[in-house]
Amino acid sequence: MSEPILSIKGVTKRFGGLVANNNVSFDVYEGEVLGLMGPNGAGKTTLLSLIAGAQAPTSGQIFFEGKDITGMPAHKICHLGIARTFQIPHPFSHLTVRENAAVSSVFGRGISREQGLAENDEILDMVGLGDKKDTRAGKLPTLTLKKLEIARALARKPKVILLDEVFAGTTEAEVPQILETVALFRKMGITIVIIEHVLKILCNVVDRIVVIDKGTWIAEGKPDEIMCHPEVVKAYFGA
Ligand SMILES: Nc1ncnc2c1ncn2[C@@H]1O[C@H](COP(=O)(O)OP(=O)(O)OP(=O)(O)O)[C@@H](O)[C@H]1O
Ligand SMILES: [Mg+2]
Repeated sequence: MSEPILSIKGVTKRFGGLVANNNVSFDVYEGEVLGLMGPNGAGKTTLLSLIAGAQAPTSGQIFFEGKDITGMPAHKICHLGIARTFQIPHPFSHLTVRENAAVSSVFGRGISREQGLAENDEILDMVGLGDKKDTRAGKLPTLTLKKLEIARALARKPKVILLDEVFAGTTEAEVPQILETVALFRKMGITIVIIEHVLKILCNVVDRIVVIDKGTWIAEGKPDEIMCHPEVVKAYFGA
């Protein structure tokens, strides 16, 4: 197998006495879609925050393309090519959808405002915001804001995208469109780490799944292996 694009090595994150991530290790390979699964409070979002540089690990190391990025500030990690979405969207409410995407292009890639405003239409169409480009973000409902989260991350033109429950709350009817969207990301050559509770989405888009429970890595493998893995079943349903 090739060298991993992202490598999590023995990462621990403590908040006082609470251990949110406990000695977690796994690799992500270029072009793959890796699912990150675990019950509520397992430490999934914390792990994405550590990778994206929003917080620094207490111990352990994170490598991106072979470079140690442990504790590097978020803007530097973003410039290297890792983009993330937030579980709770935080758009610039007073800016339009197009302007929000442009902010990512301008600050994430250092291009001009004019270029940023001009170049994201395709991305906005792709994520289903084609008819909302001139709507102020503050007027959008939460589900639509999650699409804006994806658009803002894509506008950065990342090598790796970290998706935190961006499809939560979608209806059964929307699942095929979501699968199509993720397939497009893959075609664009983007490596994806996705936290998702909707198993129908997760199992249909990911190559592998890593499961954490109470901050600790408990299993890793192909979706069908993971779904009947005794440790995973125990974490979700009890002994
Ligand atoms: N900044 C923080 N300060 C203190 N505790 C925190 C902080 N961030 C997260 N935690 C705690 O760390 C643990 C892991 O939280 P995290 O949000 O990473 O879980 P999660 O797996 O994303 O859960 P969910 O599925 O509910 O989104 C939880 O107990 C949470 O309360
Ligand atoms: Mg979370």
